Amino acid sequence: MPESMVGLKRSHRCTEVSSADIGKTVTVMGWVAKRRNLGALIFVDLRDRSGILQILFDENKLGETNFKKAYQLRSEFVIAVVGTVTKRSGAINPNLATGNIEIVAQQLRILSEAATPPFPIEENISTKEDIRLRYRTLDLRRPDLQRNIMMRSKVATLIRQFMAKEGFLEIETPTLIRSTPEGARDFLVPSRLHAGEFYALPQSPQLFKQLLMCAGYDRYIQLARCYRDEDLRADRQPEFTQVDMELSFVDVDDVIDVNERLLHFIFKEVLNVDVPLPIQRMTWDECMNRFGSDKPDLRFGMELKDISDLVGNCGFSVFTGAIKAGGTVRGINVKGQGGMSRKKIDALTDFAKGYGAKGLAWIALHEDGTVKSSFAKFMTDDEMKAICGRLEAEPGDLLLFAADRRKTVWAVLGALRVELAEQLGMRHKDEYRFLWVTEFPQFEWSDEENRWVAMHHPFTMPMDEDLDRLESDPGSVRAKAYDITLNGVEIGGGSVRIHQADVQERMFAALGISPEDQQKKFGFLLDAFKYGVPPHAGLAYGLDRLVMLMAKADSIRDVIAFPKNKDAVDLMCEAPNTVDAQQLDELHIDVEES
Ligand code: AMO
Ligand code: AMP
Repeated sequence: MPESMVGLKRSHRCTEVSSADIGKTVTVMGWVAKRRNLGALIFVDLRDRSGILQILFDENKLGETNFKKAYQLRSEFVIAVVGTVTKRSGAINPNLATGNIEIVAQQLRILSEAATPPFPIEENISTKEDIRLRYRTLDLRRPDLQRNIMMRSKVATLIRQFMAKEGFLEIETPTLIRSTPEGARDFLVPSRLHAGEFYALPQSPQLFKQLLMCAGYDRYIQLARCYRDEDLRADRQPEFTQVDMELSFVDVDDVIDVNERLLHFIFKEVLNVDVPLPIQRMTWDECMNRFGSDKPDLRFGMELKDISDLVGNCGFSVFTGAIKAGGTVRGINVKGQGGMSRKKIDALTDFAKGYGAKGLAWIALHEDGTVKSSFAKFMTDDEMKAICGRLEAEPGDLLLFAADRRKTVWAVLGALRVELAEQLGMRHKDEYRFLWVTEFPQFEWSDEENRWVAMHHPFTMPMDEDLDRLESDPGSVRAKAYDITLNGVEIGGGSVRIHQADVQERMFAALGISPEDQQKKFGFLLDAFKYGVPPHAGLAYGLDRLVMLMAKADSIRDVIAFPKNKDAVDLMCEAPNTVDAQQLDELHIDVEES
């Protein structure tokens, strides 16, 4: 029968007790992590969020009743122990903060008993993630997750602290808003009071933070929950948290400046890592051409090299065909992998096909000077030499090539380079390489919609020198938009916004958004803009992604207390689920049987 805490007050967390306390009586409370019986002695590892502390139950010191109780202890029982801090009698454990002390128990209370957990409450378990998510409370007790969640809290606190000092105001924006389907799909919430009408959950506080600028709050920050109904990946959740900010009377450099100092501060405080400032900047164009990605992982090289000019007239129709069709041929040099087996190269080819490649062409330069290639027979010696020269190939290297539309070549080689670096252990988790990606294209052509769509959003300001081409050559217009990337992950993004009515009008026209649609979707913003808009700009981080990288976790699910799984399901509370007919009635909803 579990006992109460009456008369007891916790004096320390487990690892707050140290050898400086030897001789003192302390009261600790927590979960039984481990129990070992040695006749008249029982050792228990007591666990709380701070770590582990060893408790010694000695039959001679504890008396029979209490010792019997200690005998009943099982994993995950919650207990309170009053005892004396003592130098460890047995072996010192250098892996524990409290490894040289133990608590010799004087009193034991069992506060609650526990069923056997479905998996061990330990670090690095191999239990399937869906089982961990089903029993998330237990999973969250594991030390690695506890460290992540505590780190997340620390990061959030530090951000608030830093931003407050910089004059930012924390302001909440609503989460039941009007649907403005731009970007991802909205999650909708049916209205009971207004039959047939819906709220949407915000994909970001974008429009509201711009309105706050119009309202004069000049520096805003919010740790904002955002909702996007999109396909999930390791770094995407249907609901996630943004560190969202907006500033008035600023341009690109002002936003970058405050954010570099913010990142420097957080990394120093949390990881004792010095982020070198200023953070490197690269234009979108250069990123794509060198790394095939707008979020390049800079921890390794393997840059893309264009060989189109060398193979335009060669005898390999895969290459010449791609070039004639307006495409390009580019390659990467995988240093030291010239000996890679055909089987592995075939596997890489399959991988490349997953990114739209029609195949993969290769040259393997063996250490002994021999050269094997999937296409050498179509080439002259000079052409082969020129290609190898362009890729700075040396004996022992493997060269991989893709020929296709530029977009496909970027996607294929960009993904291959990351995959190979991963396989070859070149992505060190304790190395942090930040990059600002700047000068994004303003527009992206959508084959589906047969129109230009905004790459960031329709309120992003074009670069001053490109403004006059908004109508004549939209594809060439660059935006005052920037992303901050870390180790190949987009951790944040933002832009300078349009604050001039005439530019906004031209932007809507370029995007093919009719005046009725403008009014319908963004009317409230455009109305506010009529009454005095400060020039403004902002940025939002994905807090989950940032903490994932700081915690060296593989997935954002490991830094979110209660995440959804890959199918957007909360396995613990079983959401989404069906609801009562009465609830549906009240919401004026008919559900079709599927
Ligand atoms: P953006 O859409 O780039 O910009 O989002 C900002 C950052 O949020 C993170 N993020 C996500 N994290 C987890 N799961 C998701 N599904 C997800 N989607 C995005 C990314 C991303 O960089 N309003 C603009 C910001 C601005 O212009 O100020 C916006 O939302 O790390
Ligand atoms: P195919 O002509 O399709 O039999 O391909 C001949 C060789 O070229 C094979 O090794 C393919 O993997 C490779 N290949 C095919 N298409 C491409 C492409 N677009 N880019 C690079 N290599 C390719």
